[in-house]
Amino acid sequence: MPDDSASVDLLDYGPPTETFLEDVVIGLSRGAKRLPSKYFYDHRGSKLFEQICQLDEYPVTRSELAIMRRFADEMAAQIGPGVMLVEYGSGSSVKTRLLLDHLEDPIAYVPVDISRRHLQLTAERLSAAYPDVQVLPVCADFTSKFDLPVADPAETHKAVYFPGSTIGNFQAEAAVEFLRGVARLCGRGGGLLIGIDLKKDVAEMEAAYNDRQGVTAEFNRNLLHRINRELDGDFQPEQFRHEAVYNDDFDRIEMHLVSEQDQEVSVGEHTFEFSEGESICTEYSHKYSIQEFAALAASTGLTLRRHWCDADRSFAVLHLAVIDEQTTV
Ligand code: AVJ
Repeated sequence: MPDDSASVDLLDYGPPTETFLEDVVIGLSRGAKRLPSKYFYDHRGSKLFEQICQLDEYPVTRSELAIMRRFADEMAAQIGPGVMLVEYGSGSSVKTRLLLDHLEDPIAYVPVDISRRHLQLTAERLSAAYPDVQVLPVCADFTSKFDLPVADPAETHKAVYFPGSTIGNFQAEAAVEFLRGVARLCGRGGGLLIGIDLKKDVAEMEAAYNDRQGVTAEFNRNLLHRINRELDGDFQPEQFRHEAVYNDDFDRIEMHLVSEQDQEVSVGEHTFEFSEGESICTEYSHKYSIQEFAALAASTGLTLRRHWCDADRSFAVLHLAVIDEQTTV
């Protein structure tokens, strides 16, 4: 890998090689076909997601930003002075900046991201904007194990920031596993600041994933374009219809790509059969109530300390504290 920047050092744990092909083959070989939603975000996918965030039907990002604008000072006070702030996904740094602006003497900012290029850019920008904060980027898949860099001077405690309601993409077991990992990583005195999309009217939730302009449909189908581009696939994306429905039993939006006809698709050496009406599940987006999420977190050694909502109670940012290291092993 060429290193085109010297201003910030990067701790490198990945990304793992050729897992994309492996994940696609495994997902499409199942009885109920699936593709992992984390692969939505190539360059075009990230652009389409930014467009989704501007849609009238999709208020999620705007709601979270409004909460951050209004309550970042209270969140910072809750986190406390001398922290090492670890951000998972290090997306748009707008929310992070709001937090950093209000934190008292933060020691270090550690963005963790799978995309090396994106990470390097974020790190450089933040480092320039906050010269008193050590910016220590880590290239890693945050759902797997990795070590944190060492700050000098050492932080008094750690806090993980996980905005965007990305946790909604995880099924219950994965969410629990993730929260356990956070508790383990932060240890005693540590905490988690996390954004979650709240349960609301079903029609409203479904509209958010079925916008009239069809941006979400294109975002969904981009996964097939990406497979074509990167894995030598021959999907005809127009032959798959976008579908997003709320599943009441699991409290989640499920996104699918439904085959419009019987068809055969190849990906590299592999071929897959689709019958008319057969679907590939591409994303779960779980919706929570604050109480449900707090209960889930409690089983992993994290206890809810405070939460902040927007006026419609459509989104919430929660601060959870690590209870006791022994209970989180
Ligand atoms: C980025 C995971 C929060 O689940 O709402 C938006 C992704 N998918 N529209 C979500 C998404 C379709 C989004 N998250």
